[in-house]
Amino acid sequence: MEFLFIELQKNNQPLYEQIYEQVRNKIADNELQPGDKLPSKRKLANFLEVSQTTIELAYAQLHAEGYIRSEARRGFFVEQIDELTPVSAPVALTETEETQKLPYLYDFSPGTIDTSEFPFATWRKYAKEIIDESYQDLLQLGHPQGDAELRSEIAHYIAHSRGVQCTPEQIIIGSGTEQLMALLLRMLGEQSLFAIENPGYLQMHPVFEHHHHPIVPIDVDQDGMIVEQLIQSEATAAFVTPSHQFPTGAVLSASRKAALLNWAYARKERFIIEDDYDSEFRYSGRPIPSLKSLDQHGKVIYMSTFSKAFMPSLRMAYMVLPPTLYETFKYDVIQYAATVPRFDQHIVARFMQNGHFARHLNRMRTVYKRKMQAVIETLDTFSPTLTFFGEHAGMHVMIQLDDDRSETQLVSLAKQQNIRIVGISQYYVQRAEQRPTFLLGFGGIPNEQIPKAIHSLLTCWEL
Ligand SMILES: Cc1ncc(COP(=O)(O)O)c(C=O)c1O
Repeated sequence: MEFLFIELQKNNQPLYEQIYEQVRNKIADNELQPGDKLPSKRKLANFLEVSQTTIELAYAQLHAEGYIRSEARRGFFVEQIDELTPVSAPVALTETEETQKLPYLYDFSPGTIDTSEFPFATWRKYAKEIIDESYQDLLQLGHPQGDAELRSEIAHYIAHSRGVQCTPEQIIIGSGTEQLMALLLRMLGEQSLFAIENPGYLQMHPVFEHHHHPIVPIDVDQDGMIVEQLIQSEATAAFVTPSHQFPTGAVLSASRKAALLNWAYARKERFIIEDDYDSEFRYSGRPIPSLKSLDQHGKVIYMSTFSKAFMPSLRMAYMVLPPTLYETFKYDVIQYAATVPRFDQHIVARFMQNGHFARHLNRMRTVYKRKMQAVIETLDTFSPTLTFFGEHAGMHVMIQLDDDRSETQLVSLAKQQNIRIVGISQYYVQRAEQRPTFLLGFGGIPNEQIPKAIHSLLTCWEL
C-alpha cells in the first residue's frame, strides 16, 4: 500500500494521535484487513506532509496496542485481531429511581441532618490552610489507622464527653460504621456469632450477610436490648446502641448494662460492640454514660461517627479497640490503607483542637432540641389517635398508630403526596407486633416547617 487517506485537522489534538486514531478505526471497520501492508513511514510522511517522527509515533502506538506488527526489512502489517472492542464514547447513564433525586415535599427519613447552621466559614478557613504547599506531606499515604493528630483529638474528646479512656493507638478511623464493622468481623473471626438488636440498625445487616456471618436477632423493649435473650443464645459478640437504641430510642437500663457486661466478662471470646452514634444529642436529664466507661475488663469495642455531629457525607467514623484486641490485631489492621482522605482528617482535627467542634455541637443541640419541641407540640394535638416515644434524644421520634392499615399502605399514601417516611418493619429481622409504627425524622426539615409537614403527613393518612 502506497498511501493512506487520513484527514488531519488543525486542532489541539497532536498529529500523531490523529493518524493513530484513524488507522485504528480503519482496522476496526475492516477497511484495512489483516495482512495488509501499511505505507512505509517515509512515504506516508511525504504524502501527509508531516515529519517522519510523527508517523513513527503513530505506528509505535499502533504496534504497542497490537493493531500492527513490524517485520524486519519488510515493513508494517495489519494484525489479525479476533474481536475489536470499539473505543467509543462512554455509554450515557440511564436514570433510575435511585439515581434520580426525588423532590420530596417533606423527607422524614432518619438519616438527614440540619444543614442551615453548618460552620462553612470555619471549615473553609481550615481547608484553605491545610490544602497548601506547606502540607505537601499530606499527599502521601498516612497511617493506616488514621493520622495521629486526629486520633489524639478523638481520644481527648471521648474521654471528656463519654468517659472513654484510651490511647490514640487504640483508635482506628474509617469511612463509616459499616466499614469499621467489616474490619472487626475479620478480627473476631469466622467462628464469632453476632447478636444484633431487633429492631436495629438496618445498614449493618448486609455487612454480616456479605461476610457470610450468621446473626442472632435479640428483641428490644422499653429498656433496650433484652439481655436475658442474649444470655440464652450462643452469640459471642453483641452489637448494641445502649445510650439511644436505634430506632426505638430506648436507653439500656442499668441492670441490663451490668448483665450485658457480665455476659461478656464470663468468656474470653465474648465482646460487645457499642455503637454510640448520636450521644451528643440528648435533650433532657444528664448524658447517659457510655457502656465503655463502665467496662472493667476491656470487653467493649467503642464505635462512634461524625455523621450526626458533623455531616453524613464526611464518611468519618472511629472505633476504639480494647488493649488486648489492639495488641493481637495491630499488624492485621496496618495491612489496609486508611479509608478517609488525610486532608479531611486534618480539617476535622483542627476543628476539634480549636474548640469549634464543641461549639458546633452546642449550637446543634439547641437547634435539634427546638425542632424536637416543635415535633412534640404538634404530635400532642393528635393524641390519642397517635402515640409517640423516643423523644428525649436524637433526630427522630417514633410514632405509632392505632390503625388497621399496614405500614406499607401508609408509606405509599404518603409517597403519593411526595412525603417520605420509613416504617419500623424495615429495621426488623423478624417482627411480631403489627401496629403501624414509623420513624419521624426531622433533622432535615426547617423548624418553621415542622408543624405544617406533620399536618400534611397526618392529613394524607386522614388522621
Ligand atoms: C445506629 C447508627 N449507627 C451508626 C450510624 C452512622 O453510620 P456511618 O458512620 O456509617 O455514617 C448511624 C447513622 O447515621 C446510625 O443510625
